[in-house]
Amino acid sequence: MDVPALALPNGQQVPQIGLGLWKVQDDQQFKAGFQAAIDVGYRHFDTAQIYGNEQMLGEAWKVSGVAREQLFITTKIWLKNFGQRHLQKSFTESLDKLQTDYVDLLLLHFPVTVLRKKAWQALEEIQANGGAKNIGVSNYTIRHLDEMKKYAKVTPAVNQVELHVFLQQPELIKYCQDHGIVVEAYSPLAHGEVMDDPVVAGIAEKHGKSYAQIMLRWCTEQNLVVLAKSITPSRIKENIDIFDFELDDEDKQALTKLDRNLRTCWSPVHVP
Ligand SMILES: NC(=O)c1ccc[n+]([C@@H]2O[C@H](COP(=O)([O-])OP(=O)(O)OC[C@H]3O[C@@H](n4cnc5c(N)ncnc54)[C@H](OP(=O)(O)O)[C@@H]3O)[C@@H](O)[C@H]2O)c1
Repeated sequence: MDVPALALPNGQQVPQIGLGLWKVQDDQQFKAGFQAAIDVGYRHFDTAQIYGNEQMLGEAWKVSGVAREQLFITTKIWLKNFGQRHLQKSFTESLDKLQTDYVDLLLLHFPVTVLRKKAWQALEEIQANGGAKNIGVSNYTIRHLDEMKKYAKVTPAVNQVELHVFLQQPELIKYCQDHGIVVEAYSPLAHGEVMDDPVVAGIAEKHGKSYAQIMLRWCTEQNLVVLAKSITPSRIKENIDIFDFELDDEDKQALTKLDRNLRTCWSPVHVP
């Protein structure tokens, strides 16, 4: 399966679909899911220090036989590691677990008040030293991104946020795209919490696609990277099989109306 890619500011390409790894903590499930993903064409994997599976990802990619440079690996610095010394030390531990000497993308997991400026400067240093090809942020609002203009030497390559048809965030997408920041949609299936909307189901039936495929396709058509999580091989395959059809104007209008600001994860909106 050929997966389209989006260009990051440094010229590297990020595959438009990545496998989300949050809550995948069983070793056997991890290995089976990883291999199923590799077999159907995933090369992009999204982990984080707090997910507790960087080690599993390191082991899984090593035995897969896929060359490191063909993979796109993201990890995220957890909140308690935002202090400058902790951050560098925790990142070195992440690299050890991932069995690699660089990640393709390193993110600050959340806009932690007070510490986020110094944490960003530490990421800039890591990038300058070759530990991360790209650096970015996660759960940043427009306000947090605007504030970065005061102190960031490097513009974030990515902002990874919760985004799906029930939480569309059009202003945030526009802001990021206007500033050359690639938006990654996490929980693109609304964490599996709304799998019975009749509008989505109707569009799925019309295209001979599944409910999940319509949710994911809506994201990719807006030039977002989409990070869907599954441990089920048939769903892993289904979720990447979204590049052979297009939503029409009628579908898009109907899907736009489904926005209801539904957050299934944490909200950064009130973080000062
Ligand atoms: N940066 C952040 O703060 C942040 C926060 C949340 C998530 N993320 C990232 O985004 C990824 C995805 O988000 P998520 O895990 O919250 O949720 P999600 O991908 O929106 O939904 C996952 C749920 O949907 C089910 N599912 C997957 N494919 C399906 C399909 N084709 N049909 C029906 N159900 C399906 C999964 O079940 P099974 O696994 O049982 O198949 C699971 O219960 C995470 O794994 C993580 O990498 C980042």
